[in-house]
Amino acid sequence: MSFTPIEDVLDGLHESERVDIRGWVYRKRESKDTIFLVIRDATDIIQCTVKKGSSAWSDAKKVTIESSVALGGTVRSDKRAPGGFEIATDQLRIIGLAEAFPITKDQSKEFLRDVRHLWLRSRRMSAIMKVRSELLKSAHEFFRKQVFIEVSPPMFISSACEGGATLFGLKYFDKDLYLTQSAQLHLEALIYSSKKVYCVAPSFRAEKSRTIRHLTEYWHIEAEQAFATIEDMMCLEEDLISHVCHSVAKQCKKELEILKVDAEELAKIETPFERITYKEGIERLNKKGFKIKWGEDFGFNEERALAKELRGPVFVYAYPKQIKAFYCKTYKDNPKLAMSVDLIVPRIGELTTGGARVDDKEELIKRLKELGLKRDDYEWYIDLRKYGTVPHAGFGLGVERLLAWMLHLENVMDTIPFPRTLRRFYP
Ligand code: 4AD
Ligand code: MG
Repeated sequence: MSFTPIEDVLDGLHESERVDIRGWVYRKRESKDTIFLVIRDATDIIQCTVKKGSSAWSDAKKVTIESSVALGGTVRSDKRAPGGFEIATDQLRIIGLAEAFPITKDQSKEFLRDVRHLWLRSRRMSAIMKVRSELLKSAHEFFRKQVFIEVSPPMFISSACEGGATLFGLKYFDKDLYLTQSAQLHLEALIYSSKKVYCVAPSFRAEKSRTIRHLTEYWHIEAEQAFATIEDMMCLEEDLISHVCHSVAKQCKKELEILKVDAEELAKIETPFERITYKEGIERLNKKGFKIKWGEDFGFNEERALAKELRGPVFVYAYPKQIKAFYCKTYKDNPKLAMSVDLIVPRIGELTTGGARVDDKEELIKRLKELGLKRDDYEWYIDLRKYGTVPHAGFGLGVERLLAWMLHLENVMDTIPFPRTLRRFYP
């Protein structure tokens, strides 16, 4: 037996025909001689009417919200029905009768996160999941087109990429290891054979702060490229992000409508993005009443204010080297500055960090020492500078932050099916 996707029924492809659909009861309303069931499948929702006297009547009476059903009937156009079509039901089979569904109208965000395993069925969450899927698909498409090789980095690691403060430790047999914070160091090893590599993988951060943009487990799109510069990375990043925005605008019209996001706004994201130095950033911020001194890092408020003022994504580059990681290359004519670049966007702040990497062995050893990092832990990484070193650059982008920015979501928690934070690890 074949079942028709609801989307096809609503497209009018089966008007006046008999169809069978399969899904879940999304809404139910009864009048004296008609029961209205709105059925949901992965593609859409449709109204189905059951008339008193039909053989489907008794099951339609019995069926509850979120019960799974198979239903057959004749498609007819009806302007009053959502989507313009409904199914006059003559057959109904209850597959799984649902108990009283705990999610009803007007429940708090906190409660909906507690029952995330059920809330994922909402139109809102399923629309977000579809956009997320399109985002990932188009990112892969972009890298493949640019001839990047997709690689699979390890999750168990023995030394930090982004500093000890946010490392998750774990027992690995009788050894102490960590969960990866970034694939960067391992991606660097792969550029010597594959030149341009990327990955989409989870990163883990023991973030104790409760913010709208931090998760303890997030998905990280990272790329690394031999013979590339910090400028090359800015171009690559903006091309990637605009490609993703345009694909979503084109492929996810229905979902954007459900989420009340203007597809035009995404379609209009244009390159090049604005580029300013850290120094210029400070000047602009201080003119707006902030009081930041050279050498201090920008926080959430500073980043958001800057991106808001410049009305869109902005690259901020040439940071003081002391606020950037050990692997950042510095400018030859100004060794106090790191060739590091953050992309910041309105509402969310930092979306990416990237830049050029130290490619000189002695310089790297010196930097590790300055930062009190153990050389032993990074011996393999130093090797990369011993055997045929090349200038190179890369970047990392948080998938959840990108999605939260694109869809105007309040919190990155709403972009991932099962968010992990300090307090949330269930369901
Ligand atoms: O700025 P970060 O820490 O940079 C790196 O990890 C580099 N090694 C990446 C690279 O060059 N390959 O992280 C990169 C991005 C951030 O800009 C942010 O979008 C995201 O990862 N991110 C988080 N997203 C959600 N929750 C967190 N706790 C995040 N921490 C970083
Ligand atoms: Mg960063």
